[in-house]
Amino acid sequence: MGCLLYHPRLITPMPACNAMSLAADSANAHRARSTAVPGRRLSVAPMMDCTDRYARYLLRLITQRALLYTEMVPAPAIVHGRVDLFLAFDPTEHPVAVQFGGADPAELATCARWAHRYGYDEVNLNVGCPSDRVQSGRFGACLMAEPWRVADCVAAMAEASPVPVTVKTRIGIDDQDSWEMLTDFVGTVSERGGCDSFAIHARKAWLQGLSPKQNREVPPLDYQRVYQLKQAFPDLEIIINGGITDLDQAERHLECVDGVMIGREAYHNPYMLAEVDRRLFGEHSSVPSRHDILAAYLPFVEAQLQAGAPLSAMSRHLLGLFQGVPGARAWRRHISEHAHKPGAGAEVLRDAAAKVRPHAEAETGAAVTGG
Ligand SMILES: Cc1cc2nc3c(=O)[nH]c(=O)nc-3n(C[C@H](O)[C@H](O)[C@H](O)COP(=O)(O)O)c2cc1C
Repeated sequence: MGCLLYHPRLITPMPACNAMSLAADSANAHRARSTAVPGRRLSVAPMMDCTDRYARYLLRLITQRALLYTEMVPAPAIVHGRVDLFLAFDPTEHPVAVQFGGADPAELATCARWAHRYGYDEVNLNVGCPSDRVQSGRFGACLMAEPWRVADCVAAMAEASPVPVTVKTRIGIDDQDSWEMLTDFVGTVSERGGCDSFAIHARKAWLQGLSPKQNREVPPLDYQRVYQLKQAFPDLEIIINGGITDLDQAERHLECVDGVMIGREAYHNPYMLAEVDRRLFGEHSSVPSRHDILAAYLPFVEAQLQAGAPLSAMSRHLLGLFQGVPGARAWRRHISEHAHKPGAGAEVLRDAAAKVRPHAEAETGAAVTGG
């Protein structure tokens, strides 16, 4: 594997990746693109309480090609039998990856087997979450200090199922944030565990003293470190994550890494994904309007209501659909005031949509944010 040739402990970090340095090193640039698995060129990050199956169904109406991640599923929940609750998904969600949180190879192997049975396209291990709850289970970001254990977990998952296993992690934890620590982690997990795809949140986590929310905002972003990782491990797929808010930024990152993972912006302003298929995957399909997306979502909402789900389980994911369009505030307010009422049905969404003029988005332009 290339990481033996480019062993990171033997090299110093490469200079910043930018269009000029890549032009000067076209062979490296070629490798950066050729290793990318198509779906991972753009993915929507795993987010607890956000990327559930109702949200993923909506996101899939906006982009056919982006890879969608589930919320993190704790391995013990699967081992203790709550499989369908956590793993059921709609076939239209493909390509879809399930993320597990755990630190026990045998438990995670069981999870990978179930993920295969359910038809997931990828199994991802969470090595980036800093929450207290996750730390008390000794998994998530604190596993960065135990690369051998992570390698064993990944190897056990790969052994248990044919579904590709990937790792989502950070650039460091606490004072363990050196280049050597990061490259030792990635080198060990790839060489010993066999993992060849890493999503890297480009900031470290403080395991004590910061909330998970603060850990997504306070430690500074260091994109260069992720670019350097790609240069040090050209045969690995490196996906960059953290603070990416539009497709122009995504395209610039793709000059230096294999894929871009977007979290909060994709959730709070999902229409930012509307041009992903055309711009990042070379599709020629037309871009649906926000009203088209809502119209396509409503039959799903009605089916879920019939199945017993409350409207709010779906409507909460729609709040940002008209972000930046005149009437967006009235749309949000109507949903917030009515969707939680007993017996609330899809008419709440139709009435809310009537508050956004049908052509308002064309007048405003899809890329406008705020509102
Ligand atoms: C509400 C919320 C929940 C999250 N839950 C998870 C999770 O379950 N697993 C995970 O690996 N990361 C989780 N994250 C972190 C995101 O996947 C992502 O790494 C982070 O938000 C940075 O990307 P962004 O700046 O594009 O949002 C969560 C983030 C948010 C905002």
